[in-house]
Amino acid sequence: MSKASSEQLEKIRQQFEFEPYPQTPIDYSPKENANLMFIHNLGNPYYLRDRTVIDSRNRVILDAGCGTGSKCLALAQANPGAKIIGIDLSEKSIEFAKKRLEYHGIENAEFHVLGIEDLPQLGIEFDYINCDEVLYLFPDIANGLRAMKAVLKPQGIIRSNLHSELQRYLYFRAQKLFGLMGLMDGNPEDLEIEIAIDILKALKPNVQLKQTLRPSAEGENRNEWVLMNLLFQEDKGYTIPDLFDGLRRADLEFVSMVNWQQWDLMTLFEDSDNLPPFLAMGLPGCSTEQQLHLYELFNARHRLLDFWCGHPNQAKPRQSIGEWDIADWKNTTVHLHPQLKTSEVREGLTRSLEQQAPFLITRYLGASVPEGESLFIDGAIASAMLPLWDSSQPFTALLDRYLKLKPVDAVTLDPISVTTAIEQLQLVFQQLESYLYLLLDSQE
Ligand SMILES: C[S@@+](CC[C@H](N)C(=O)[O-])C[C@H]1O[C@@H](n2cnc3c(N)ncnc32)[C@H](O)[C@@H]1O
Repeated sequence: MSKASSEQLEKIRQQFEFEPYPQTPIDYSPKENANLMFIHNLGNPYYLRDRTVIDSRNRVILDAGCGTGSKCLALAQANPGAKIIGIDLSEKSIEFAKKRLEYHGIENAEFHVLGIEDLPQLGIEFDYINCDEVLYLFPDIANGLRAMKAVLKPQGIIRSNLHSELQRYLYFRAQKLFGLMGLMDGNPEDLEIEIAIDILKALKPNVQLKQTLRPSAEGENRNEWVLMNLLFQEDKGYTIPDLFDGLRRADLEFVSMVNWQQWDLMTLFEDSDNLPPFLAMGLPGCSTEQQLHLYELFNARHRLLDFWCGHPNQAKPRQSIGEWDIADWKNTTVHLHPQLKTSEVREGLTRSLEQQAPFLITRYLGASVPEGESLFIDGAIASAMLPLWDSSQPFTALLDRYLKLKPVDAVTLDPISVTTAIEQLQLVFQQLESYLYLLLDSQE
């Protein structure tokens, strides 16, 4: 390692020794936060890439740059039966992470004070690597990605993220400014934090940099907030082309954005069925990278470019569900997303059926749909889905149940044909699948 990079690593280590991150209280359990559980469910990217449903038991998960372990805990809770390994440069953070997992009774976890660059020393290969809020600190993101790729199983998946240059531009300006003032020459501590806040507070309200001051600058997590924003050592901003360039240089393949529903260009237009002709003609020819880049240029609202990737050419070729014929549907097993398979959701569904009210599925798992979208499931289809709370079901079993519930057409009272019933179910199931509420496993 060059002298410059070891100096940079030392700066980062010192910052997190002074203020381990995050300062989330030890007794906080992310289990009740459905969105967090969804983000950390390793089955999601596997399904998005391969359309296969995997079991989390015995999977080996690395939390690279785990800090004080709040994501290790989320990973353990979202993936029952998996083994969690946390590594970090900062000894203090690792001590805290260990205590956190012990406090929550997670036994299948181990921790090491180790740099991501030195991962091969562990001699372990991983099914899933979570590298959250760390990659943007690397002098070259391709090096960070290569280091993780070196310990990733052939089918494995990496989740990582970069700070958005476009969304966080004011923080990068603040860091430049405070850097020029010498506040980031050594390790910024209480005095430097005080000075930075004093300076921003002294600005008139209409001065752009004043917008960086948030209520958090006054609260009990003030130090953490200042160090992670205004005085963040080695913090850097990136755009979508930078991310894809890093993936190409590390020879990794993009799988999906983690919050892919919030990167849909179509959601940016008043009427997505009636786009300006120039766009309507051009967009279908755009690559995923180009579409995501257009999104950030139109609307740079995401602080993180949060993505999944894996080794190249691992995705199993799959026919799009929209192209399935009746035989494909008949060969399909339907699974409920594991996060929905709870007694609470089942009771909610039963209540809706008893009250003859549509079932509002988004109430239980909002993370998988575009923001603000509500999704109701109509009575007969909701009722046909009920057995999924006991076990995964052949599509044909759900179809039989649906035909019993809805044997005739509501308008003509003519019997419904099997083909019509399949069409009605497939319309709803396809939408539910696109949000991962249902996972469809077809013997293609
Ligand atoms: C912003 S914190 C994120 C902590 C945790 N991943 C989270 O999201 O809650 C960054 C962490 O990465 C660690 N870190 C930074 N560079 C690292 C490296 N090259 N190897 C291992 N850990 C590193 C830091 O010590 C720090 O604890």
